[in-house]
Amino acid sequence: MASRIVATGRATPQTCISNHDLARRMATSDEWVRSRTGIAQRYVMASGESLVDLAAEASRTALSRAGIKPAEIDAIVVGTISSDYGFPSFGCQLQHRLGIDTIPAFDVAAACSGFVYAVSVADASIRAGDWRRVLVIGADALSTMVDWNDRATAVLFGDGAGAAVMVGEPGPRGVLGSLLRSSGQYWDLLAVRNRGVQTTIDGEARRQSDDAIKMKGPELFKLAVKSMADVTLQVAQRAGVRLEDLELIVPHQANLRIINAVAQRLGLPPEKVFTNVDRYGNTSAASVPLALDEALESNRIRSNDLIMLNACGGGLTWGANLLRW
Ligand SMILES: CC(C)(COP(=O)(O)OP(=O)(O)OC[C@H]1O[C@@H](n2cnc3c(N)ncnc32)[C@H](O)[C@@H]1OP(=O)(O)O)[C@@H](O)C(=O)NCCC(=O)NCCS
Repeated sequence: MASRIVATGRATPQTCISNHDLARRMATSDEWVRSRTGIAQRYVMASGESLVDLAAEASRTALSRAGIKPAEIDAIVVGTISSDYGFPSFGCQLQHRLGIDTIPAFDVAAACSGFVYAVSVADASIRAGDWRRVLVIGADALSTMVDWNDRATAVLFGDGAGAAVMVGEPGPRGVLGSLLRSSGQYWDLLAVRNRGVQTTIDGEARRQSDDAIKMKGPELFKLAVKSMADVTLQVAQRAGVRLEDLELIVPHQANLRIINAVAQRLGLPPEKVFTNVDRYGNTSAASVPLALDEALESNRIRSNDLIMLNACGGGLTWGANLLRW
């Protein structure tokens, strides 16, 4: 039994903030942000919006494309470090929002690697015969955790939710392999010490600098490039797949320079790497499923193509999933 992603969906908040908008609020410029990151705009949560609602919207799209009713799902696995509440989990809130009862629903906290981790967890349980149909989510709202006075961090992040329906089926298609890695020694390269507080860009409340995302950008940059390139190569080698046979890589969209450097290390031409970081910024766990959904929508992925998903994020966590579509 293999597991296969049969459909995807995505949702973003309504508020879109361009670099020019940010330049009116802080000492930055469109030129600086574009040249350092490739980001032109990002969607951010406003007061009263719920990330669980966005995940429910993305889930309904994916389920309807898969022709599967919510009641037919066996489990919900959510890659996230954001939640409307401290607890219960995002998974339980989403389960309630979708009107499904008693199935397991839980979160996998791996920051920007959350979706890649969640796909691996769902794949393992489907292979073991525990579940047949799984809703896998990547959702985050890191814009609610930034200090809007910290220009080096605030310009990078956006919010969103992506969903994938994975089903168990015999045959050669589906997840060929996954590899997950963590290195807690680097925990303070990207961290938020107070997740309970939610502050939106339009709200009155402001995060104390100590409670906001703290990032050591240059160190993180180097580790992200090395870890994403290494894990991609290792997953391919384990599966006996040559990198040149990959049709498309759908990487975590943190920064265009990181994505380009990973592709260069792996010797992959730009046309084999999907990017949409220019329109979304770094949406953490949502970034891979948002990109996957757009890659499918723009016909960049066809049946039987070899596809690689990879990511790196706070933790440090990193990982990759190799799929035959
Ligand atoms: C954050 C990052 C974009 C900074 O890029 P960089 O090339 O290292 O930045 P530079 O060294 O060229 O520039 C730093 C300067 O720009 C300034 N600067 C920082 N943010 C700025 C902004 N938004 N606008 C204008 N200037 C800014 C700094 O104050 C610093 O000025 P100084 O030299 O006078 O002290 C880069 O380190 C990065 O992308 N790191 C990885 C971050 C990431 O992706 N995290 C998530 C991983 S999952």
